[in-house]
Formats: sequence, C-alpha cells, structure tokens
Amino acid sequence: MSTAIIGVGNIGGTIARHLVAGGESVVVAARDESQAKALADELGPRARAASVEEAITGADAVVLALWLDNMREVIPQQARLLDGKVVVDPSNPIGFDEKGQMFRTLPEGESSGSVVAGLLPAGAHYVKGFGTLGADQLATSANRKPRVVLFYATNDDAAEATAQRLIRAAGFEPLKVGGVSDAGRIEGPDGELQGRIFDLDEARATIATEGANA
Ligand SMILES: NC(=O)c1ccc[n+]([C@@H]2O[C@H](COP(=O)([O-])OP(=O)(O)OC[C@H]3O[C@@H](n4cnc5c(N)ncnc54)[C@H](OP(=O)(O)O)[C@@H]3O)[C@@H](O)[C@H]2O)c1
Repeated sequence: MSTAIIGVGNIGGTIARHLVAGGESVVVAARDESQAKALADELGPRARAASVEEAITGADAVVLALWLDNMREVIPQQARLLDGKVVVDPSNPIGFDEKGQMFRTLPEGESSGSVVAGLLPAGAHYVKGFGTLGADQLATSANRKPRVVLFYATNDDAAEATAQRLIRAAGFEPLKVGGVSDAGRIEGPDGELQGRIFDLDEARATIATEGANA
C-alpha cells in the first residue's frame, strides 16, 4: 500500500512524517520537485519523491495537501488519474488578507469538502480528513496516551477503511463525524469540532451533544 501526498507544506509534510513513522510508504510530490526530494531524503527508505502524475499513478490513496484554490487547478488536470483512487482532503475554506487576517473563502455554510468532492471524478473515493487540527497541533499530538482523535467525513466505504488505516498509522484515533454533508463541522475557520484536542470518549460525547444542538 502506498500513499501519494501532493503538496509538501505544513500539512503535507507533517502527514508524510507521521505516516512514515507509523510504517506506511509514501510518495511525495510538489510543484517544486526539489522540495519533495528534500522531504523524501529526510524521511528515508519508506519515502520517495515523484512528479504529481507519477505519484498519483502509483498510489492507492492520494492526500491532496493543497489550498482549495490550487485544488481547483490540480483536480481537473489529474482527473483521469484520480478516478478509482481514495482521495483524502484536509482543506479548509481559509484565506489570509494582506494584514495576515484569516477569512472564510466560501460562503457561510458551504464546506470545502463539498467543493472538492464535487470536483473529483465519479469513481474517486472521497474522504475529508487530516485537516481538523492545525499543522502544529497535528505535528505535536501523535501517539499520545490516550490517543488524540482525528475526525473524518465520508459517504464511501473504501475511503472510510483507508482513512481509518492512515489515521491509526499516523498515531491518532479515527472517528467518523458523518458524511460529506457534515464536512463543515471539522473544517476551519468555524467548524465546531476543528482545532480541538479530544480523546475518543471526549470526542464521542461532544459529537453527540453538539450534533443534537446543531
Ligand atoms: N496549515 C495548517 O495549520 C492547516 C491545518 C489544517 C488544514 N490545512 C489545509 O491544508 C491545506 C494545505 O495547507 P498548508 O498549510 O500545508 O499549505 P502550504 O504550507 O502553503 O503548502 C501547500 C503546498 O501545496 C503545494 N502546491 C501548490 N500548488 C501545487 C500544485 N499545482 N502541484 C503540486 N503542489 C502544489 C505548495 O508548493 P509550492 O510551495 O511550490 O507552491 C506547497 O508545498 C490547505 O487546504 C489548508 O486549508 C492547513
């Protein structure tokens, strides 16, 4: 089993490090191939760098660790290769203005997950995941006792099985929040479950309470 990670910035780099530490093989790809090569060299024999096309072709699962605007270009370009793959989407509808202030890039109530799922070919197996925590939180909270939960959202059984495997390999506890229509609950800047560190019992209790109040 091999996972392609497209984008080697804050989130892509952190996911790659955790997966390799958990025994998974990864192929990393970026616009600047030298950055992907540097990350693969750092990670050792379970990682290699490739072009975006080559990485997707050889992988069972593809993590699109890209900003939503970049996904709007990359997904149509790679649609044929993404057909049939599990696609993991950590994106949030977040942008930053010239003063560094965060703003929502989609209308209130529209999730990044619904946009990305809609861009993918019909045969792709979509899951929203790995974007619930900030990159620093994600980097520092793997393999805690008890394990920290990473929420995911999907309508697809194959995507769910892969998300669970990858989240466990990365050192976290997977917990489904719902289908794609629930993706907004685990996305920044305003999803009620994003950015929160929970163990499994706390996460289950919070989903039940806040879902009931939604
Ligand atoms: N940072 C966080 O705390 C955080 C938390 C949760 C979720 N997320 C989400 O994760 C996603 C990535 O965020 P990030 O902070 O990791 O961003 P980032 O550090 O800016 O990394 C984005 C990566 O995407 C690459 N990229 C852009 N266009 C590409 C293309 N056409 N082909 C291949 N690679 C391309 C960039 O390469 P270049 O540098 O060469 O452009 C860069 O390596 C976003 O959707 C964000 O909402 C981020």
